[in-house]
Amino acid sequence: MVMTIPDCRAGPTRETEVSLPNTTAIAIRGLTKSFGRERAALDDVSLDIEQGEMVALIGASGSGKSTLIRLISGLLRADRRAGAAAVTVHGRPVQTGGRLASNAQAVRGDIGVIFQQFNLVGRLSLLTNVLIGALGHVPTWRGTLGLFGREEKRRAMEALARVGMHERAAQRASTLSGGQQQRGAIARALLQRAKVILADEPIASLDPASATRVMEALSEINRDDGITVLVSLHQVDYAIRYCPRAIALRDGRVVYDGPSTAIDRAFLEELYGADNEELIVGEDRPTAATGGERTLAAVGG
Ligand SMILES: Nc1ncnc2c1ncn2[C@@H]1O[C@H](COP(=O)(O)OP(=O)(O)O)[C@@H](O)[C@H]1O
Ligand SMILES: [Mg+2]
Repeated sequence: MVMTIPDCRAGPTRETEVSLPNTTAIAIRGLTKSFGRERAALDDVSLDIEQGEMVALIGASGSGKSTLIRLISGLLRADRRAGAAAVTVHGRPVQTGGRLASNAQAVRGDIGVIFQQFNLVGRLSLLTNVLIGALGHVPTWRGTLGLFGREEKRRAMEALARVGMHERAAQRASTLSGGQQQRGAIARALLQRAKVILADEPIASLDPASATRVMEALSEINRDDGITVLVSLHQVDYAIRYCPRAIALRDGRVVYDGPSTAIDRAFLEELYGADNEELIVGEDRPTAATGGERTLAAVGG
């Protein structure tokens, strides 16, 4: 008897070719980065982040969060002497042994990067800013002339709607609030069809209400689109609320990697120093999910 197995790969999806056997979104091996003669900003960091995870990167100022994010996105190269240092995203190398991979540019297309600020071009409309995310998928001559196709515009509006920003599409980016700009940056990553979003302190300069909206937008696309999110957060309460897993850095080393709900006050004091109260709890802090786990309420209490 011959069974017919439906060919799941018959569709027009080029994307399937990289995501079939590999469930690791970000693989980091032996990553060391020094600036000048000082102690390494990042010191022999290895970790795996699986597809679909939403992971918080926490740690005091100067602990290496931005350096790690920039190394993953290929904006920085690891030290050369760290021979085995490697970053791969969805199985494709971004850099190896301190050298960018030859196709790093293509791999970067899978990575959406969101910074604390300056994500959007202020003089351009929000819509145009989002459309810039599609440049990897639009012939350059059209992209540079600003002649985006109807289909791209439709997708851009759809992406803006996902983050609740479609009504502001025509507005100049410079006139948007910080939180609105961050949501615009998330929409741009959606248009880019990013598989991984790296967000470096995206809520650090936002008020609590805007911060919550940005974290919810990230959380939603993580849940609904399966986009892997690595987000560095100064505010540990948001990490506990939105990210099941937290990775803590201190002096460039991973000192914790596990459930964010297991993070307690004693650990935070060790991580940030006992004086750094404002990093740990604020009046407007969101309440962490309950259910017998150690939550921020317990942390702060
Ligand atoms: N471009 C740079 N030149 C020199 N030192 C840097 C540079 N970028 C980061 N560093 C240093 O590397 C360490 C880690 O910085 P960073 O990754 O920005 O930490 P975080 O994002 O956790 O605040 C710090 O000691 C910082 O001063
Ligand atoms: Mg930083």
